[in-house]
Amino acid sequence: MTPGSALRAPRPIETVNEFAADVIAGLTAKPKHLPPKYFYDLAGSSLFDRITDLPEYYPTRSELDLLTKHAPEIASLFPPAYALVEFGSGSSRKARIVLRAAASVEAYVPVDISGDFLREDAARLRRDFPHLSIIPVVADFTAMTELPAEIAAKPRAGFFPGSTIGNFEPHEACAFLRRAGGILGAGSVLIVGVDLEKAPDILYRAYNDAEGVTAKFNLNLLARINRELGANFDLAAFEHHAFYNAERYRIEMHLASTKRQKVRIGETSIEFRAGETIHTENSYKYSVDSFQAMARGAGWAPLKAWTDGLFSVHALRMAQD
Ligand SMILES: C[S@@+](CC[C@H](N)C(=O)[O-])C[C@H]1O[C@@H](n2cnc3c(N)ncnc32)[C@H](O)[C@@H]1O
Repeated sequence: MTPGSALRAPRPIETVNEFAADVIAGLTAKPKHLPPKYFYDLAGSSLFDRITDLPEYYPTRSELDLLTKHAPEIASLFPPAYALVEFGSGSSRKARIVLRAAASVEAYVPVDISGDFLREDAARLRRDFPHLSIIPVVADFTAMTELPAEIAAKPRAGFFPGSTIGNFEPHEACAFLRRAGGILGAGSVLIVGVDLEKAPDILYRAYNDAEGVTAKFNLNLLARINRELGANFDLAAFEHHAFYNAERYRIEMHLASTKRQKVRIGETSIEFRAGETIHTENSYKYSVDSFQAMARGAGWAPLKAWTDGLFSVHALRMAQD
């Protein structure tokens, strides 16, 4: 293989056993919950891509517009001959805007847990950006400690769009920002996309689209458990629920059991009451100030924030040693 062509996993990502253990632990807990990282198998990543094109889902449109408008200024913050590292790259649609504006970028390192989707994306990126080293890394970004050896000597810039930061609890978001600072290094710049607090009806519509794609994305988690762990979830007996929790500044996504039922996962039997839910995801909303305060607490100095009133894109710099 040529350098940079391998699909790297600096640490083995979750195995079937780890997936099974997390699912059983989450579904036997009170209240029931599942880690959102398991949304993203090939089917889940494809459904998320469809969500980003929905008319109700303003975050992607807003962030794409902000990145397009400010790409030259964003690119001017990056050092010469650098590697751009994206955490949770998905289809790399937003990175493409930054990569096109950045004359001095030499390598792009998309990091994602969704290995098959990442592999397909890396092939397209190599075709579209033949002058760049494309170095995909299959990893859980909450457990990553290092980057591929090829970019060890290069300055790095970080990219964390999509409001993926909102899926963490605030203390986890702070821990992630610290980890990213350690990986990217002193003096590095990180660009983060953060969804803003806003009128609950706009938020409600964004997570309850008329076409039902977000519901399919949520239910795919149960379909994945059936496929990979041989469980017998009846998808027709669970409903997508998404609502804004104003006290906690977050959208909550749940899967609600429409009836009393038992589900088997391997040897384990899980009971559901009618109306009982599995909490599958949070999406925290921030103000520009509350996000910048959190970033400061994780060692990052806010350089600039661009917003359109709905969404924000932040440039942060890690303190020098
Ligand atoms: C909300 S999507 C954002 C995708 C893309 N960056 C965008 O802005 O459209 C979150 C992405 O992060 C990935 N992801 C979620 N949890 C992850 C984890 N713990 N480690 C690595 N990737 C993760 C998912 O596979 C998905 O591609």
